[in-house]
Parts: sequence; structure tokens; C-alpha cells
Amino acid sequence: MRRIDPQRVIDIIHEQAGRTRTDRYCPGRPPSVFRCMDTDFGQEMAGDVLSGMTGSVKSIPCKYLYDAYGSRLFDRICTLPEYYPTRTELSILERNAHRIMDFFSEREGSLVEIGSGSDLKVRSLLRNLNGPSARQVRYVPVDISETSLLRSAHRLLDDFSWLSIHALVADFTRHLDCLPEGRKLIAFFGGTFGNFTHEQGVALLQSFVRVMGRRDRLLLGIDMLKPAGIIESAYNDRSGVTAEFNRNILQHVNHRLGADFRPGDFEHMAFFNPDKEQVEMHLKARSHVMAHIAEVGLSVSLRPGETILTEISRKFSRTRAMACFDEAGLVPVNWFTDPDAWFSLVELAALKG
Ligand code: AVJ
Repeated sequence: MRRIDPQRVIDIIHEQAGRTRTDRYCPGRPPSVFRCMDTDFGQEMAGDVLSGMTGSVKSIPCKYLYDAYGSRLFDRICTLPEYYPTRTELSILERNAHRIMDFFSEREGSLVEIGSGSDLKVRSLLRNLNGPSARQVRYVPVDISETSLLRSAHRLLDDFSWLSIHALVADFTRHLDCLPEGRKLIAFFGGTFGNFTHEQGVALLQSFVRVMGRRDRLLLGIDMLKPAGIIESAYNDRSGVTAEFNRNILQHVNHRLGADFRPGDFEHMAFFNPDKEQVEMHLKARSHVMAHIAEVGLSVSLRPGETILTEISRKFSRTRAMACFDEAGLVPVNWFTDPDAWFSLVELAALKG
């Protein structure tokens, strides 16, 4: 895909923003889409899988859990009785959306959503818009899947026909410079932040800080520490959806990289590691496993019981979270949580010297 110069994207967004002022109330106005992707997805995946499978501990980056089928499985996970994070985060949002959306009550701006999977959370925010500039909010969803961006954009326009939507097809770990200028509230829901190690997480927060002005806000969802049993059942559901979700990463590698993994050769394993305060999700070889990954030109072999790490999901104490914010140059201005303090939505401001 052709790389678009970030400045050009910003220009286009501003041009379009100007133009939509006249047709703001036109229902069904199509969302505009900008593509920031500068690499070939298959090539990137090949590189990631090669380095992951040749390390001393085998791993596949968790972003490859989300092919079309994996994304549908994740949507199902979100509705499972054991999987508390989604409904807890949503309940926090429902209770505080009006306060959060005060950001837009006096002045217009962009509501940026990073990795906008389902549209439930942003709906909760949009329903709570009020004040004179409410209808001048621009929604900027950022996701690597153009299909899912368009699907949710059209669904949103059915209910919020006045909304201008500028979708960015982008990798949020690399393309934040494509975000529009001007005041913005950046929402990063779902606890995806927990999939990054401390160092990666701090670097990611710093990249947010770089595009934030003094008055901008980052609304960050983080899953909190709680008794290990509760955490472990969320990743070992009785209906086996998480196991299917985990094994599907191998199907994704098979399809994209011409590999011949047999998902049935692996057992789903997810546990809470108390030292690192994180859930680790693995695929554990049931016996001696051999596989070939054609596009990478790599043969892999696993001993019985050897595992492939497919995800970490960190669980935070307030202290640990504060350490990340501090290091990145962010300060909490509001800390929203549920009555059990199982999940947090933290509204952060950038400290700029
Ligand atoms: C979407 C990354 C927040 O870590 O809880 C769900 C993904 N993995 N079940 C999480 C996931 C296993 C989820 N996040």
C-alpha cells in the first residue's frame, strides 16, 4: 500500500473538516478513510513470526490473534460470564461518560479511538455528548482493519447521522503522527495496553504524549490486580472459546505464511504469573511437534510440553500504573473505576515542559 505523508493526511482531514461544516446534518454521509499503512502485512508477519519462533522461548505476537475469525471469537469472549473486563469497563463508562464528554461541551474537537473493535464503548460516549459544540465532534477511529473500520463507521452513522467520521487505517504503534491536529480526546479502551511489556507500554504512552497538546486527554483502560482465581477463569472459560481463540493464531499463520501447524497438537494454557503480575497465554505441545512455515523458510520443532507464548495481559496495581504514567510524562486527572476496583479508566494529561 502506498504510504501517505502524514502531513498530507492531516491536510486532507482539515480540508474535509471544512467541507463537512456545510453538510453536517446530511444523514448517511460516508465516512472518509485514510490509509497510513506503509508496510505489507504479510511481510511484517513473516518477520515477526521468524523472530518469535527462533528465540530461546518461542512466541507469536498477540496481534496475530485477530484475523477475521479471531476477531469474531474475541467478540464472543467479551460476552462470556467469566470474562469480566469488557462489561466492567462498559459499566464504568456508562456511569462516567457524561463527565468524560464534558471535554467537548464548550469547544469542538476530535474523539480519537485507538483500535476500535466493537462500537459499544464509543456509543456510550456519543450518547452523552451535550453542550453547544456537541455536534461538532469529529470521530477518528484508528484500526489496522479497513473492513471493520467501515462496518462500525456505517453502523454509527445510522444512529448518529450528524457525526463526521474520519477513519484512519493505521498501526497505532507506528502511525500516531497521522492523527489530526487540534484538541482531542484519545480513547484507548479494552485493556490492550496490558498486552505490552513495561518498556513497550511506556514507549507507546510516550508516542501518545508526542501528539498531545496541553489540553488534550488520553482515556486509558487498564485491568487491575485482583485474586488470581478470578483472573485465571477469565482466560480459561468453560465453553472453550478462549482456547479456540488461542489455537486460531496457528490457523492464521497457516493461511498467511503457508505453514502446516495442526492446532489440535496444542493445548490452550493460560495462567497468572504473580511475579510479573500478568496473565500468560501459551500453546503447549501435546507431544513432539514438527511444523514448516513455507513463507519464512523455517522448520520448527517443539518438545512435548514446550510452549509458544501467544499473549501477555498485565494486571496493574495503582502504583505500577502510576509508574508507567510517570515515566511517560502523563498525569491522571480523573481515575474512574468500578465498585470492586477490578478495572480502571484513567483520564490522563500530558506534562509538557
Ligand atoms: C483484548 C487484549 C484486552 O488481554 O484480556 C482475551 C485479549 N486474550 N482473552 C485481554 C484476550 C484472551 C484481551 N485484550
